[in-house]
Amino acid sequence: MTTLNPDNDAELIALAVSMCKKAYAPYSAYAVGAAIRTETGNIYGGCNVENASYGLSNCAERTAVFSAVAQGERIITEVAVATEDGGSPCGACRQVLWEFAPKDGSPLRVLMADKNGTLIRETTIVELLPEAFVLR
Ligand code: THU
Repeated sequence: MTTLNPDNDAELIALAVSMCKKAYAPYSAYAVGAAIRTETGNIYGGCNVENASYGLSNCAERTAVFSAVAQGERIITEVAVATEDGGSPCGACRQVLWEFAPKDGSPLRVLMADKNGTLIRETTIVELLPEAFVLR
């Protein structure tokens, strides 16, 4: 697909990689870092935060989204996710990201990188979640 602002991708991926190092993942040992850019141009990081009660664990993407929303942000234009192997966001995180996608039809870009910051795949939230749940 077309890369809209590749000049800024390196910065976002670098933050995702650095957030990966802050992951609290003693149970899975699978560290995930995320970085999102909002329409205001601000960027926010997040990491996965696990818990002894496994189901309470929070993914890196949702940590980043919730941090941004708590600062008043409402539209996310890009997310970079960094993992050991360049893994893809889970279904729950796709739905949460979709909620804050641009409303004008422009894509919410999703960048998947490995732990070295190498871009493994670029796609969009609509490609990852074509039929999101919508409450009407
Ligand atoms: N995880 C994320 O942080 N993001 C995802 O999109 C998928 C999974 C975390 C949750 C858990 O801490 C670890 O990866 C293993 O599932």
